Amino acid sequence: MCGIIGYIGDREATEVIIDGLTRLEYRGYDSAGIAVLNDSGIEIRKRPGKLKILKADLKKMPLSGHIGLGHTRWATHGLPNEPNAHPHTDCKKKLALVHNGIIENYQQLKDNLIKEGHRFKSYTDTEVIAHLVEKHYDGNLEEAVRRAVKELRGAYAIVVLHKDEPDKMVAARCESPLIVGIGKSENFLASDIPAVLKYTNKVIFMDNLEIASITKDSVKIMDYNKRPVKKKISEVKWDVTQAEKGGFKHFMLKEIHEQPKVISGILTARTRGSNIRFEELKIKDSALKRIKKIAIVACGTAYHAGLSGKYMTEWLAHVPVLVDTSSEFRYRSPIIDKNTLVIVISQSGETADTLAALREARKKGAKVLGIVNVLGSSIAREADGVIYTYAGPEIAVASTKAYTAQLATLYLFSLYLAGLRGQRPKAKIRAYLNELRRVPELIEKILKRYGMERSDMIQKAHEFNREYHRRLKLYYKGDPEGKRRAPNCCFLFLGRNVNYPSALEGALKLKEISYISSEGYPAGEMKHGPIALIDENPWVVCIVPDSDLHEKMISNIMEILARRGIVAAIATEGDEKLRKIGVDYIMEIPYIEQTLTPFLVAIPLQLLAYYVAREFGEEIDQPRNLAKSVTVE
Ligand code: F6R
Repeated sequence: MCGIIGYIGDREATEVIIDGLTRLEYRGYDSAGIAVLNDSGIEIRKRPGKLKILKADLKKMPLSGHIGLGHTRWATHGLPNEPNAHPHTDCKKKLALVHNGIIENYQQLKDNLIKEGHRFKSYTDTEVIAHLVEKHYDGNLEEAVRRAVKELRGAYAIVVLHKDEPDKMVAARCESPLIVGIGKSENFLASDIPAVLKYTNKVIFMDNLEIASITKDSVKIMDYNKRPVKKKISEVKWDVTQAEKGGFKHFMLKEIHEQPKVISGILTARTRGSNIRFEELKIKDSALKRIKKIAIVACGTAYHAGLSGKYMTEWLAHVPVLVDTSSEFRYRSPIIDKNTLVIVISQSGETADTLAALREARKKGAKVLGIVNVLGSSIAREADGVIYTYAGPEIAVASTKAYTAQLATLYLFSLYLAGLRGQRPKAKIRAYLNELRRVPELIEKILKRYGMERSDMIQKAHEFNREYHRRLKLYYKGDPEGKRRAPNCCFLFLGRNVNYPSALEGALKLKEISYISSEGYPAGEMKHGPIALIDENPWVVCIVPDSDLHEKMISNIMEILARRGIVAAIATEGDEKLRKIGVDYIMEIPYIEQTLTPFLVAIPLQLLAYYVAREFGEEIDQPRNLAKSVTVE
């Protein structure tokens, strides 16, 4: 949460910083700010609201200089107004500082600093760090930062520049991500790789309790005890176009369309014939053979992928699997030990609760495997073993391609375990792999039908929007005193077995980008409560692919139709039964073996959420109150 960037070199710092912030905006968009150091000192510009407001402002009144830093904020302490926007300064405006994280002891530090005569201009925890650096500064910025961070409790990645040392920038990290980008006669600091990818693909991943001091020609890293740290320079394989919209209206739509390529890439990297390989998985086969159970831990969409993974692994590899959201796992007393494999799943690799769950699991002696998208992220580094999902940078806040990449990785890992533990013969594994190899082409087919501008799904989203507003208007007109009940204009998503998690994911996608209330349920739970919601208002999206439970789903649909419910179904092509019973709208997917249906079902669910949000005119890539990388609890 929050994106930070620093630049030092020969280019105009503003251009690099604004470009970087544009690529980091997915991390927060409550306000944005920039500080540039030039002959007149430190010049700061900050604006509440989206980055575009700051951009427009800078166009009218540019800032010039070759060293600077920037910030895009997801508010934690203090309203998203101008004083609370970063960068923050000290009393004399000799330094500028940006921060991502939360300082837990800020109030106590602030009280002391005020007593010592420091004057505060904002309500943020961050400003405390600026004043602490000021307090400790006696001509050496590295040392002042080192002394300041020793007083902090909490999570932070900070970048600081000082007027008296105009050719240097200093950064420190504890829990919040920070990378150094290495250029030719220029260097960068940033929260995430896409921010610097246009200029360099060489990066250093900073570890906790490290301080970086960079000039345009040098990078020095030390620990909090001033000991120099030798760091590896990694070469990132992503290319910058992956982090651009490439002609699509939104990143989300682009990322939905990238799924066939992502899954093909995973298959190419991970399989040869019927062999499955995970090169970076450092956990030995002998250890995987010994495990007695698996605990999957993740948040949000990654949690839903994990739930699907449970069905896959139990069925294919016959290992018991429990699945938890990270925030629950870390605060209960999970029964795990050295015979448990804990799999943490995370696109960003930085989610605070998932990272805490990982640490908890390791403390209890379990081996932890990270299924992660972002190279060198905290989870990737702290887990005992890692499998990268190779989805490329995911920019839209609503996760799409990372989700199906997680599903593919989990399916492959389940097959790998099944082979290793002798649960499936080689011929069967080859057959399952071949079925998985059909997925990219089948997704392509679904995208051709529904992912294009002439898609009938767009028409349906339009009808929903019209009907929604008609009913609301009618309600308010006919009931000025608010005595009647408002119509239930919401979405319900129902699925069974491996598509119960798909239902949860469909509901999450829709609610997070269109702000329309939506719930996902296992269809068998309908009669235990949710059926009370059914009248002619909600849309009930039923996931009914060809499977052993098809008949059961049909019965659920009949019950909904009998109560005048509106059913939109996701079904296998040629499902005559569904047609006959009078379902209102059918989104078709090609046939695939039932355990793999979540891959195909995901596409109409993502598109439906996207089209509905577009109809409602929402900011699809940056939904309100959310941020891509949830680095605070
Ligand atoms: C939903 C979404 C979030 C994330 C969740 C976990 O579209 O993006 O629910 O899935 O915040 O994030 P990661 O995977 O980065 O740990």
